Amino acid sequence: MTAKRSFTILPFAVLALTAATLADAAAPPSVTATIAARQANFKKMGKAMKILSDQLKSSAPSQPAMYGAAQVIASNARRQGRMFPLGTGPGSGVETEALPAIWTDKADFDAKMRQLVNESTKLVAVTKAGNAAAIGAQLKATGGTCGACHRKYRAEDE
Ligand code: HEC
Repeated sequence: MTAKRSFTILPFAVLALTAATLADAAAPPSVTATIAARQANFKKMGKAMKILSDQLKSSAPSQPAMYGAAQVIASNARRQGRMFPLGTGPGSGVETEALPAIWTDKADFDAKMRQLVNESTKLVAVTKAGNAAAIGAQLKATGGTCGACHRKYRAEDE
C-alpha cells in the first residue's frame, strides 16, 4: 500500500520540480532588464558619491565635477522608484540583492526612496553654489539615505 502510494505521488513531484526549474530559468526579459537597469543606476550613484567625497578631500575641490556628480545622483534617484515592480525580487530567479521586505513594506521603501530624491536634489543646489562645508554636510545627509535603505532592504554580501 505504501509502495503503491509513493508510485502515484512521484510523477507529480517530478513535474512540480521541473516546473519550478523552468520558471527560474525563464524569468521574463523585462524582469532581467529591470533588475540590470536598477543595479546599473545604483552603480552610477555609488561612483558619483565617490567623486564627491574624493573632491572634498582634495586641496582644490572642483565645483563642476561635484555639481555633475550630484546631478547624476539626483537624476538616477528619480528613476529608481519605478525600478522595483512586483516580481523583481529574489523569487524571480534573477540574481538580485533586493530583499522581499521591499514588497511587504512598500510604503516605507517608497518613503526612503523619496528621502533620497529630496536630499540629492538639495545636493545639486549646494554643489551649484559651491561652498565646500555645505556640500560636505549635504553629502553626509544624502549618504545617510542610502544607508538607511540598504540596512533594511538590501542583502549585502560584504
Ligand atoms: C530606497 C532604497 C534605496 C536607496 C535610498 C538607495 N539604495 Fe542602493 N540599493 C537598494 C537595493 C534594494 C539594492 C539592490 C538592488 C538589486 O540588486 O536588485 C541596492 C543596490 C545598490 C548598489 C549595488 C548595485 C549593483 O552593482 O548591483 C549600490 C552601489 C548602491 N545601491 C548604491 C547606493 C547609493 C550610493 C545610494 C545613495 C546615493 C543608494 N544606493 C540609495 C536600495 C536603495
